[in-house]
Amino acid sequence: MNRICVTGGAGFIASNYIKFALDEYPDLHIVNLDKLTYAGNMDNLKDIDESRHTFINGDIADADVVRKAMDGCDAIINFAADSHVDRSIMEASDFIATNVRGVHNIVEAAKEMKTHRVLLVSTDEVYGSIESGSFVETDPLGPRNPYSATKAGGELLGMTYFHTFDVPVIVTRGSNTYGPNQYPEKVLPLFVTNAIDDEPLPLYGDGKNVRDWLYVEDHARGIDHALRHGEPGQVYNVSGSNEKENVTLTHKILELVGKGPDLIKPIQDRPGHDRRYSIDDTKLMGLGWKPLTSWEDGMAKTVKWYQDNEWWWRKIKSGEFREYYERQYGNK
Ligand code: NAD
Ligand code: DAU
Repeated sequence: MNRICVTGGAGFIASNYIKFALDEYPDLHIVNLDKLTYAGNMDNLKDIDESRHTFINGDIADADVVRKAMDGCDAIINFAADSHVDRSIMEASDFIATNVRGVHNIVEAAKEMKTHRVLLVSTDEVYGSIESGSFVETDPLGPRNPYSATKAGGELLGMTYFHTFDVPVIVTRGSNTYGPNQYPEKVLPLFVTNAIDDEPLPLYGDGKNVRDWLYVEDHARGIDHALRHGEPGQVYNVSGSNEKENVTLTHKILELVGKGPDLIKPIQDRPGHDRRYSIDDTKLMGLGWKPLTSWEDGMAKTVKWYQDNEWWWRKIKSGEFREYYERQYGNK
């Protein structure tokens, strides 16, 4: 696999994937197809070797653009998505176009071009919420917000191309990912950057919802492992095995930034807020992958990155983000 098409490569996880993969595989060339939505940011790719990276500014919902980007590639990894649950609750049509139609264009092009591997990056949210225990890959899906419903739709449609047309589709379902270059609408970078600025941390509901935290480099390696060692037609959970209540995460952030709990501001809950996500990743572990970054190290590295890289997030927080922030939090 010397030429891989990566979609959404200017986003959080995919830009970290590109940096990891170019480092790991000296002969690899990446074709990066990204629409540069509000979440796409070329700053995320600023230090990569440009001679091994071709950037195409385009939309995966456009079939011609997808075919052009995939032409000559051995594999495609689809990271491109509308990815924020709260935005999908406000307005879901872009989510449907990208997360469902976009995936359809990719598997159609892969069928036509006989692409060697198609990896669809999905999420633990497709299972829905679980009170106790952990979901395994064969459990039924039960998405409960518009974002996760479109992700479920995309991966289910994608997998039908394996069963119907022999397109070598693999799906990964990852848990909540954190690390450098995450758009500050997501809870972790939002709370870190707000804490740095002594602004309130808007904690939804009773703060006891549980998320499983996975360091971004571990998620990138998990996706790469499934691509290279996974079997077509199979789904692989990628977990951080680090379940925390949101309130625990919030206190950890405050401790690392050196601020007090008075910044915590409990606010109205997210509608349909899933209580707990938990997945079992024995299957991917069985192929030889495991997460390498502990919660303590990952949190310390991540908070330090936002402290050292104000140039990266201050630009974002003063742009489109302000309007979104007002809309999302203003009346709560
Ligand atoms: P992100 O929002 O940071 O980045 C998404 C990228 O996709 C951006 O660069 C954006 O410009 C691009 N994009 C959006 N629509 C596009 C379109 N129509 N055509 C081409 N490019 C488009 O996302 P992320 O958090 O890095 O998530 C990446 C993938 O991983 C998504 O598929 C998401 O569902 C999945 N995932 C995310 C997490 C998480 O915690 N962030 C966990 C599990 C799975
Ligand atoms: O589980 C994987 C998913 O994780 C990915 O598929 C999604 O793309 C990604 O956005 C993430 O979804 P969440 O909804 O879990 O992430 P978010 O950062 O939005 O919220 C994490 C938790 O924090 C959740 O329980 C809601 C809570 N929260 C979030 C925000 C933005 C707050 O309490 N306050 C906030 O302001």
